[in-house]
Amino acid sequence: MTTRTRILTGITTTGTPHLGNYAGAIRPAILASQDANADSFYFLADYHALIKCDDPQRIQRSRMEIAATWLAGGLDVNRVTFYRQSDIPEIPELTWLLTCVAAKGLLNRAHAYKASVDKNVETGEDPDAGITMGLYSYPVLMAADILMFNAHKVPVGRDQIQHVEMARDIGQRFNHLFGNGKEFFTMPEALIEESVATLPGLDGRKMSKSYDNTIPLFTSAKDMKDAISRIVTDSRAPGEAKDPNNSHLFTLYQAFASKAQEEAFRAELLQGLGWGEAKNRLFQLLDGQLGEARERYHQLMSRPSDMEDLLLVGAKKARAVAAPFLAELREAVGLRSFVNQAAAPVASKKKAAKSSRVLSFREGNSFRFRVLAADGSQLLLSSEFADGKKAGAVIKELQSGQTLDIRTEKNGFTVWLDGECVAQSSAIYTNDAQRDAGIEALRTALTPIED
Ligand code: TRP
Repeated sequence: MTTRTRILTGITTTGTPHLGNYAGAIRPAILASQDANADSFYFLADYHALIKCDDPQRIQRSRMEIAATWLAGGLDVNRVTFYRQSDIPEIPELTWLLTCVAAKGLLNRAHAYKASVDKNVETGEDPDAGITMGLYSYPVLMAADILMFNAHKVPVGRDQIQHVEMARDIGQRFNHLFGNGKEFFTMPEALIEESVATLPGLDGRKMSKSYDNTIPLFTSAKDMKDAISRIVTDSRAPGEAKDPNNSHLFTLYQAFASKAQEEAFRAELLQGLGWGEAKNRLFQLLDGQLGEARERYHQLMSRPSDMEDLLLVGAKKARAVAAPFLAELREAVGLRSFVNQAAAPVASKKKAAKSSRVLSFREGNSFRFRVLAADGSQLLLSSEFADGKKAGAVIKELQSGQTLDIRTEKNGFTVWLDGECVAQSSAIYTNDAQRDAGIEALRTALTPIED
């Protein structure tokens, strides 16, 4: 059996995916999931989205758009486990278990939280102004996402490396505290795809919603075309040679072109292709590559219940892994069933029975015996028997596993066999609870020992 590499990543559902997200994260993730050795877990990080956004409409729209984007982009849900974080109740539960071992000092150092504090301090506000516990605990929730499924590799952007390291830290601490030598959690590694280009946006800076320089992905051909027409170029006129190496329009083209297409485009630019025409080429290229997926996207968006079904199947797959694992973790920290708790002494009961003793002795002309608990304390003293055989037979009866006929008395108890009182408690019990404990100890001591 080969163990596949478990690759896990989450997508925060606050925006609409753009071309940069597609080239930088979605496309490589879908490609990676097609590797036979990959066991991919991809999910909508919608609990994380709540940290950044309190607009329910936007949360809902983004979850749908992101799900539709990944599916339209060719994600094969039979191959990967694709789910919504919020469909997995085990994740918030694990988050709490991890919160209880995560060092506050560790979280104080989280970049995202620190940046918010710094900004407050800079503007003369209270350092914690506007900072929620959600933002502060963000890395713990993310650690739960990762550790819940024992991911080996976590593809993320550079800004998330610290979070993956925190997941290791917190997971290690849990292993150490509760593992008893067992490693519950696999140590995850951040996977930064060096080869994947960060796409430039319309103005040449990194394509990002916060710069408002994005090219839309699947909204419509027209939107894409309009955005492309706004790509900033230099002022060289048609007929003048363009420098492909200094053109982000060319970089964008490159990210989607074959080598041959790229070379042809480069040659044309050098030969003076006008920018208008160059933009047209870029649009044709993108439309050719993404047109079909765009259709699928709109189909999916028009039938949300199909997506709901797919995601619920994904959640079921994920929970089949998460639920038994969480049960183990609950057990480890001491959140155990009382029923199992009651069962636990059975094992020690056997031990107690094993090391309990029955001591026969002679007293004058009669034969008697005592039952001693494992700790040596006296539990029972027999009546006097005229011969040793009779005493032996009584002992055997008492150890046979039959329900003992024990009758409580004022300060103790007696044991009966066939209507005859054969023994009495050794100790004098001052209250009922003590006496009952003595009876329980006697039953344990007389439990027959199997095997
Ligand atoms: N925080 C990640 C981001 O903003 C999203 C995310 C949430 C994630 N949980 C994760 C990524 C677990 C990788 C693994 O990009």
